[in-house]
Amino acid sequence: MALKLSVIGTGYLGATHAACMASLGFDVVGIDVDESKISQLKLGKVPFFEPELEPLLAEQIASGRLTFTTDFSAIADCDVHFICVGTPQMKDGLAADISYVNASLDAVAKIVKSGALVVGKSTVPVGTAMRLREKLLSINPAADLAWNPEFLREGFAVEDTLHPSRLVVGVMSDSAENILKEVYAANLAEGTPWVRSDLPTAELVKVAANSFLATKISFINAMAEICDASGADVTVLAQAIGYDPRIGNKFLQAGIGFGGGCLPKDIRAFMARAGELGATESLEFLREIDSINNRSRNKVVEMAKRELGGSCEGKRVAVLGAAFKPNSDDIRDSPALYIASQLKVAGADVVVHDPKAIENSKKKYPELSYVDSVDELLAGADLVLHLTEWKQYREIDPVHAKSLAHGAIIIDGRNALDMNAWSSAGWRIHAVGRTSR
Ligand code: UDX
Repeated sequence: MALKLSVIGTGYLGATHAACMASLGFDVVGIDVDESKISQLKLGKVPFFEPELEPLLAEQIASGRLTFTTDFSAIADCDVHFICVGTPQMKDGLAADISYVNASLDAVAKIVKSGALVVGKSTVPVGTAMRLREKLLSINPAADLAWNPEFLREGFAVEDTLHPSRLVVGVMSDSAENILKEVYAANLAEGTPWVRSDLPTAELVKVAANSFLATKISFINAMAEICDASGADVTVLAQAIGYDPRIGNKFLQAGIGFGGGCLPKDIRAFMARAGELGATESLEFLREIDSINNRSRNKVVEMAKRELGGSCEGKRVAVLGAAFKPNSDDIRDSPALYIASQLKVAGADVVVHDPKAIENSKKKYPELSYVDSVDELLAGADLVLHLTEWKQYREIDPVHAKSLAHGAIIIDGRNALDMNAWSSAGWRIHAVGRTSR
């Protein structure tokens, strides 16, 4: 008989994991304490934008394999329980708030059946899994706990869940590994690399990977600063170093830096945990990675102020993009909205467009103005900022855009626009790490 799974926490990670596991033929119960989220999911509605997820979810609900509940007793007969709750940054420090993970373990420990496996997928400070396992076993010695970090990218969540680059399983027993092999049989059959480790290594793999990615982005942004100072071109530099297979050409897009719900908070939580472990020095470099990242945003704020002649008062600034990256409506720690709100504070009339993230932006930044069309956005703009590289922004005709705008100055914060096309159309275009045209 196929295993019955529960997925605790139905955010980006959990909702996607639940729908994908159901699509592989498992019976899955998604559970969350948030009643409104669960009632939307029950109707087949995803409470955030993630390409491909909504049709998959609706299909799996219709199949009868996927259900949602807020009642923990409904998952008591499950064989595997995935903990997929969030671990946001603490309000008063760098560390991760793991209270939702702790609460999930407490709730599941009360109902877990003998022989069942609890599997953590949330990103946690190293050492958490061992502590949770001891707690679980003190309540039910016949259950077990494993750690199986998730590497999905927003915007590609379904693809990354169904076809991950690797599967990392931190386990304390062969039986736990065997259960996970049954869960991921389809991936094993298609040759996905399988890495078995102990619990702390599995926890660390996730934060180490995100730290490496953040480092790569801040590295290229530091190079952009040197290019700006020396008249070189960071996009050509990135292309040239990227041909070296040891370096690789991914994650070398210089611009306003990384945001979102993972990279910024994960590197901060990792530093905080290193401090607790007496290893502050080992991750001291991440402090620099974080400050290069913050500097990348602020550099565009300063550039915008200069282009507006030093005073933002009464100037209309048109912002293309609000989400922290394209194909997402996630605005957590969005570099675009940080820049927009700083210019608003400086007195500019800031107008924002985004294909998907306007509703979320309005809630968090009600002081900014929002429009539904790019033409409306550009009309009368003194300065245009390209801050999230949605495909539709690369398709803007610079000649038409010039006929709408008041000033013809654009800053490409993502190095994604065709500088020659914009400058030929009469725009002054600035991009990070490249000579302005
Ligand atoms: C990231 C990790 O990639 C994923 O493996 C992990 O599970 C969660 O965190 P995500 O937050 O969805 O995923 O976004 P990602 O695609 O990694 O981008 C992060 C940020 O870096 C975005 O703001 C993006 O705009 C920025 N970025 C990315 C750059 O500035 N330059 C680049 O070259 C690449």
